[in-house]
Amino acid sequence: MSILIKNIDCLVTCEGSHRKKGKEMNDANIIENGFVFIENDIISAVGKDEEYKSYIDEDTIIISGKGKTVTPGLVDPHTHLVYSGSRENELPLKLNKVGYIEILNMGGGILSTVENTRKASLDELVAEAKSRLNIMLNHGTTTVESKSGYGLDLETEKKILEVNKRLDKTHPIDVVSTFMGAHAIPKEYKGDREGFIKLIIEEMIPGIAKESLAEFIDCFCEEGVFTTEECRKILEKGREYGMKLKLHGDEVESVKGAELAGELKCISAEHLIAASDEGIKALSENDVVAVLLPSTAFYLMLGKFARARDMIDNNVAVALATDCNPGTSPTESMQNVMTFACFGMRMLPNEIINAMTINAACAINREKSVGSIEKGKKADIAIFNSKNLNYLVYHFGINSIDKVIKNGKIVVDRE
Ligand code: NIG
Ligand code: FE
Repeated sequence: MSILIKNIDCLVTCEGSHRKKGKEMNDANIIENGFVFIENDIISAVGKDEEYKSYIDEDTIIISGKGKTVTPGLVDPHTHLVYSGSRENELPLKLNKVGYIEILNMGGGILSTVENTRKASLDELVAEAKSRLNIMLNHGTTTVESKSGYGLDLETEKKILEVNKRLDKTHPIDVVSTFMGAHAIPKEYKGDREGFIKLIIEEMIPGIAKESLAEFIDCFCEEGVFTTEECRKILEKGREYGMKLKLHGDEVESVKGAELAGELKCISAEHLIAASDEGIKALSENDVVAVLLPSTAFYLMLGKFARARDMIDNNVAVALATDCNPGTSPTESMQNVMTFACFGMRMLPNEIINAMTINAACAINREKSVGSIEKGKKADIAIFNSKNLNYLVYHFGINSIDKVIKNGKIVVDRE
């Protein structure tokens, strides 16, 4: 089976299989009047003008790219996809200026989602997460990372990671698993944080590794949640068990999370709204991908965003993600994230698209197979109703997707 997308006004290839940093982030390798030829599930040719003619036969499905922007399928490298329920009840509290960590310490926030998630069956969680994945796919996302962390006991953490596994097998979107037991201290360990950390280190990490349920490990390193020292201990244990390291760091306050991510040579450090100058330097020197989540910064009403410009100027590879979760970013749409990245952090459209494709793939160790449109990569492609890339970011608040191709199959067609 073959598909040709021809006469594409704006073919954004994001070519390369490496982290793009500094000035390189402002080149998205755009081809005007380009084409992409797909055979089975792989991209077999990319080019310009009429060169496609030698590839097609009578069975080729032909899609016109006139008036379209075509990009690699978007990669969302930071989500909390699997949970039960919602938290709109926190809105009035937030509007009355009760802080995020304050709500958590009152037993709300993450802990209220933990309660719902523990009660839900595996099938119920699959159904809820599947409907989120459907929305993601409809908005152009073809690969997501999904963190556990609404279980906070071994049984429920495993259940969440099993949901990821099930969805990865059954849904068109590829789901990559991260274990994040260190997301909050559960109520049964209130006043005994050492006991909970011991549980993570001695039971959860070995139990999850034994069943190969997670490729990555992450911790919430934040004032009032887990300290830098606690995160170091947990991440080092994860590494011992073969997991690659990620860190939620400096989301609300600077606690030297970025510095720790640099020191441990994490694959990525995420959030970073309050990261210090030294932290940014540590990310740059140690090749850590900065995964920024501007819809979360907006939703937390902090009045500030992560310093994307300073990071790019300091040669940090920046990626972008939704942080899809019920508390601080209830959205599935990477197109929303484009808006906040541009108008909140002043990222340029070229930088934004590299941050959502190839750099996002680097943050989850998938850069060899996805994140760019080039020969030999998976045929994961988003076709937008936008005449150029600037227009895609400029026209906000709508779903600009025309079609989505995943593994060489048209899985969304909104024409
Ligand atoms: O990335 N920071 C911690 N975790 C999520 C929020 C989780 C929640 O509030 O339910 C985040 O912001
Ligand atoms: Fe998060």
